[in-house]
Amino acid sequence: MKIEEKEKIEIDFWKNSKHESPDVFSLANYLNKIDQLKILNAKINNHLKHFQGVKSVLELGAGQGWASAFMKKWILPKAEFTVTDISPYAIESVKYWEEVFDVSIKDALSCKSYDLSQFQDGQFDLVYCYAAAHHFVKLEETLQEVHRVLKPRGKCVFLYEPTCSKMFYKLHMRWVNSQRPDVPEDILITKDIIKMAKGLSFAVEHSYDFTSQEHKSIGMSLYFKILSKLGFLQGLLPSSSDFIFIKSYNEN
Ligand SMILES: C[S@@+](CC[C@H](N)C(=O)[O-])C[C@H]1O[C@@H](n2cnc3c(N)ncnc32)[C@H](O)[C@@H]1O
Repeated sequence: MKIEEKEKIEIDFWKNSKHESPDVFSLANYLNKIDQLKILNAKINNHLKHFQGVKSVLELGAGQGWASAFMKKWILPKAEFTVTDISPYAIESVKYWEEVFDVSIKDALSCKSYDLSQFQDGQFDLVYCYAAAHHFVKLEETLQEVHRVLKPRGKCVFLYEPTCSKMFYKLHMRWVNSQRPDVPEDILITKDIIKMAKGLSFAVEHSYDFTSQEHKSIGMSLYFKILSKLGFLQGLLPSSSDFIFIKSYNEN
């Protein structure tokens, strides 16, 4: 599939979604995001040192921006949040989450992760995304842009990303895209992403994380329970990862 075609599907998903279009704020959507919040909160606590002292935050692939609204309320109340997504229809719904959490997001706008030309060099302390980087396709270009907009020592955090080895990539892709056929998804090949980020002179921290509560079916939770005990298989089999990319002190 051509990238333009894939991006159109991503953009229009938010326009046509029964529960997540800009015209509705449904109970089902609210409950789903509240469920996701438990996972996000656990992950932030796992990586808390990277969030401390942060004053300016950019979220990529934010969807409706619920994660940033939550973080503004409960984690970083003094920080300024800029929320972005490829879909302007998703961005239209940021207002609902500002209301839910009674916060104000500094900026909410539509842009692609690999074209952050609206932002200045060294503008942000933290760039993050939640369950989104595997949708970005142009990951190297994205990391390049992220590197540019981060301050020296700034951090980029990718949370809750599906990962696997090269060997299981095709099989895993087939399975993932059969689960949610309406929006095409990619999987991150762990070693490739780490190599890519190091090539852009980021320092990289990577961890597998199986605590997420989204893996709710009996089969999935059993799979992740077993995987969590078998460290040597985590880099090989389909897994779930968090990445921290740190820009060095001397770089502009
Ligand atoms: C699985 S959703 C996650 C959304 C949000 N983080 C959440 O948890 O609700 C992936 C998001 O990435 C967005 N997206 C896809 N490709 C993108 C790109 N190249 N740049 C920015 N956002 C993109 C989609 O529109 C979608 O909102």
